[in-house]
Amino acid sequence: MTDSPPEIVRVDDLVKDFRPGLGLRSKRVLHGVSFAVREGEIFGFVGPNGAGKTTTLKVLMGLIRPTSGRASILGCDVGEAGFRQHIGFLPENPYFYPFLTGREILRFYARLCGVESSLLAERVNDLLALVRLEHASDARLSTYSKGMLQRVGIAQALIHDPEVAFLDEPMSGLDPIGRKDIRDIILRLKAAGKTVFMNTHILSDVEMICDRVAIIVNGRIRYEGPIREFLREDELRSDIVLARLPSETSTELGERFSATLQTVGETIEVQVREGQVQGFLEAALGAGAEILSVTPNRVSLEHIFLEAVEEGERADARADRGGEGTS
Ligand SMILES: Nc1ncnc2c1ncn2[C@@H]1O[C@H](COP(=O)(O)OP(=O)(O)OP(=O)(O)O)[C@@H](O)[C@H]1O
Ligand SMILES: [Mg+2]
Repeated sequence: MTDSPPEIVRVDDLVKDFRPGLGLRSKRVLHGVSFAVREGEIFGFVGPNGAGKTTTLKVLMGLIRPTSGRASILGCDVGEAGFRQHIGFLPENPYFYPFLTGREILRFYARLCGVESSLLAERVNDLLALVRLEHASDARLSTYSKGMLQRVGIAQALIHDPEVAFLDEPMSGLDPIGRKDIRDIILRLKAAGKTVFMNTHILSDVEMICDRVAIIVNGRIRYEGPIREFLREDELRSDIVLARLPSETSTELGERFSATLQTVGETIEVQVREGQVQGFLEAALGAGAEILSVTPNRVSLEHIFLEAVEEGERADARADRGGEGTS
């Protein structure tokens, strides 16, 4: 723990109550949320719809005040203004004036963020290249697809070269190619030494790019830590599909790797623990088999996530029965 990178974001015991309307009873949406984001990591703030992700991010961005608790970014309380020039923010549903072009809107945000005029044109070009929008930079935003608009949103968040990017659901509503584009952009930010905080409920994206996660369910953190530990080593398996594996080798490999090999038509399917994939493939190739595919098994993350949600709901029900009130 002592040699972990410095904390860039720190959230301590955050509570947020909302009053849905005049005279209505207030509803507790965050029940003492705490977590930390460290320098240089891609941090996934993960949870189902309505869990409190956007509310937490709004507190971090200073858009709403918590009922109690503290949040700080780069060592400054989020109520202060000093750190703002070092952070970028992609809101959940960004709106951009549709009659402007991609280049014009980025120039506008660059000026707003105080980018020097001598650097402005170059900075806008760099960002258009980063999010791969050069080809459409002089077309009006009204002609952009959802994925293109999301990329404008990310470019807008990064226009002043911030140290930390806060992205609310950056992959929402995008097709697999659009999601991959956004993942690549986020990975490039990490490679440039930036810290990225992202809200999401898309588990495969979390698994592919996040270093650490906090899982929030009904306003309570259920897990915080490295994604690998969350997945638990023994849950990590890969599905391997083979052809032309001699039947005597099949039995031997099954015993050696304590795996069940299943014949499906001309092919054989097998599930192997992650640490044994290399050894299994070498043995199978050595026996003359052809490897058709190797797929990391992602069902486990979904399964664990659902478990966390169900456990969270059970815990909330117990707390309600125990008479925990929100006044
Ligand atoms: N201004 C508000 N007034 C009253 N209730 C609110 C307000 N903003 C959010 N809530 C409630 O707080 C809860 C958490 O909402 P939040 O938007 O933080 O969820 P989320 O995790 O971002 O969900 P999603 O994945 O759908 O974006 C929800 O039950 C929502 O109805
Ligand atoms: Mg949200």
